[in-house]
Amino acid sequence: MRVGVLTGGGDCPGLNAVIRGIVRKGVQEYGYEFTGFRDGWRGPLENRAVRLDIPAVRGILPRGGTILGSSRTNPLKIENGIRRIKETLAKEEVGALIAIGGEDTLGVAARLSDEYGVPVVGVPKTIDNDLSATDYTFGFDTAVGIATEAIDRLHTTAESHMRVLVVEVMGRHAGWIALHSGLAGGANVILIPEQRFDIEQVCAWVTSRFRASYAPIVVVAEGAMPKDGQMVVKDESLDSFGHVRLSGVGEWLAKEIERRTGKEARTTVLGHVQRGGTPSAFDRWLATRFGLHAIDAVRDRDFGKMVALRGTDIVRVPIAEATARLKTVDPALYEEVGVFFG
Ligand code: F6P
Repeated sequence: MRVGVLTGGGDCPGLNAVIRGIVRKGVQEYGYEFTGFRDGWRGPLENRAVRLDIPAVRGILPRGGTILGSSRTNPLKIENGIRRIKETLAKEEVGALIAIGGEDTLGVAARLSDEYGVPVVGVPKTIDNDLSATDYTFGFDTAVGIATEAIDRLHTTAESHMRVLVVEVMGRHAGWIALHSGLAGGANVILIPEQRFDIEQVCAWVTSRFRASYAPIVVVAEGAMPKDGQMVVKDESLDSFGHVRLSGVGEWLAKEIERRTGKEARTTVLGHVQRGGTPSAFDRWLATRFGLHAIDAVRDRDFGKMVALRGTDIVRVPIAEATARLKTVDPALYEEVGVFFG
């Protein structure tokens, strides 16, 4: 059998490890052949196919990004998108497709499988860790590591100048990166999209930190919002999945803190640094296991399923279940971390 593989949405450390796991086991154990589709759903839409064999995946385990390229193309928004995908799969004699992606890519995969009978297996990917049905997505651990290192470094410069340093991390609807890196990095304030924040309270925490003769670090997820304000967006235009481009809340916070407390405040926006470069050992481990289990699901013809981490086991769940709702930070967990604020 020939199996198609694509990576969609924002890139994420560990994508290449998944591809390698799929191809190595698929060729060695099951004698499959592989076609890689380039640039997410654009690949099967426009028949941008490349050969994937063992030499093609050699040496890619520690490489960031994706050798297949990625895009946020939504075939459901394109005229005859489904028909074109089906035609490509037939022409390339692809009997099964593995889609590696986040809520958007897997949302398409679920519909292709459940409504249009395309044999798809999903692999969950996102640095945001906001996919339901899996305890962790790969890429998250790497992003948290990068953000934590940045916070560690910002502590020493904040202390030297007795400034407030605001660190803006990714996280559109879920504050997992902010929460984990903020806790690991010893931040004094952590703001997440799930809980609207009170700017007065933020300033009170900042002031109390200065009173103790330390400089405060404020970690804010890009999707965090003030109680009586809106999400700060960089660009109002929507991508094909209906998302605006975020970023700016860090800058806004620094200005407000400076204005209200009289203390100098600066912002560092980590942006795509969090998504780039080599995956952590944990992400290589998780991504590789997802790849191995995804090709097993293909062998079992268990389509419409996504591989997921539950504890230390990899299980299969309906893709639709994983994309039905986002996994957000529980208020009780956020409250637990609140003991370190101020
Ligand atoms: O979904 C992952 C993510 O990194 C989000 O945290 C962020 O909001 C978004 O992608 C940014 O997307 P882009 O790189 O397309 O601007």
